[in-house]
Amino acid sequence: MQDTWNPDVYERFQQERSRPFYDLADMVRGQEGWRVLDLGCGTGKLTQYLHQKLAARETVGLDASEKMLLKARQFEGDGLRFEFGHIEDDPVPGKFDLVFSNAALQWVTGHEALFEKLSAKLQPGGQLAVQIPAMDSEPVHIVAAETAQEFSKELGGYKRRLEVLTPEDYARLLYKLGFVEQEVRLQIYGHVLPSREAVIEWYRGTLLTTYQQRLDAETYERFVERYTQKLMKYLEDERPFFFPYKRILMWGRLDNSKFKIQNRKAVFM
Ligand SMILES: C[S@@+](CC[C@H](N)C(=O)[O-])C[C@H]1O[C@@H](n2cnc3c(N)ncnc32)[C@H](O)[C@@H]1O
Repeated sequence: MQDTWNPDVYERFQQERSRPFYDLADMVRGQEGWRVLDLGCGTGKLTQYLHQKLAARETVGLDASEKMLLKARQFEGDGLRFEFGHIEDDPVPGKFDLVFSNAALQWVTGHEALFEKLSAKLQPGGQLAVQIPAMDSEPVHIVAAETAQEFSKELGGYKRRLEVLTPEDYARLLYKLGFVEQEVRLQIYGHVLPSREAVIEWYRGTLLTTYQQRLDAETYERFVERYTQKLMKYLEDERPFFFPYKRILMWGRLDNSKFKIQNRKAVFM
């Protein structure tokens, strides 16, 4: 499958996209000398920020896009490195003090099993910090799914599955996985964009890449044109355009003992 992540398109909204990253980083109760894993690290600048903020001993940024990693690798050094791989394949060996992921886990299916795997990557007392957009029930996503239905033949029946759970389900999941402390919040980031057309540019950098991967260039442009035509009915024609963006931020800390609580049953490690 082609690598359709485009660092320049993605970073067009860098200021808006990085705000939740900093909020998530602030939720971490950091200590010096940690081993940190950043899943879906993207262009790496924010991973470097996290590495320095925590004064980590070692930070590994993992991403499945060589184009994103090409940018990220310029920040390597001083215990920070980047690796190619898919989150679901768990390619980075060993245990971590912090597993961190900003705006990436929505691309991975089966969150209950995924979070179980992520908690198994943590040392006793380890922390998990995750931020996921929660826009699945908004027109921007519903219209993309409807457009995918119209292009079903060209897409071979593919439609992006909606993976994101409710905040309360993430809270339950963290509890079940033995996170003795946790904080889960739904936050609305109010973005002021130049016009409603900027929303299309925003999604070209993320959601639409999944359709771009599966279509030739000409069909993809027709897809975006149809998506735009349908979506504009839901977005007010105002300049600037106010775009409320929902995100779930969550943090949890495992018990700091040799006993790991697994599915709320104590198991000796
Ligand atoms: C929206 S960007 C977020 C990048 C970065 N975390 C940030 O906050 O700017 C999502 C990133 O996740 C990566 N990604 C998506 N699915 C992935 C997977 N299954 N395994 C590894 N990386 C993945 C993409 O390549 C992309 O760089």
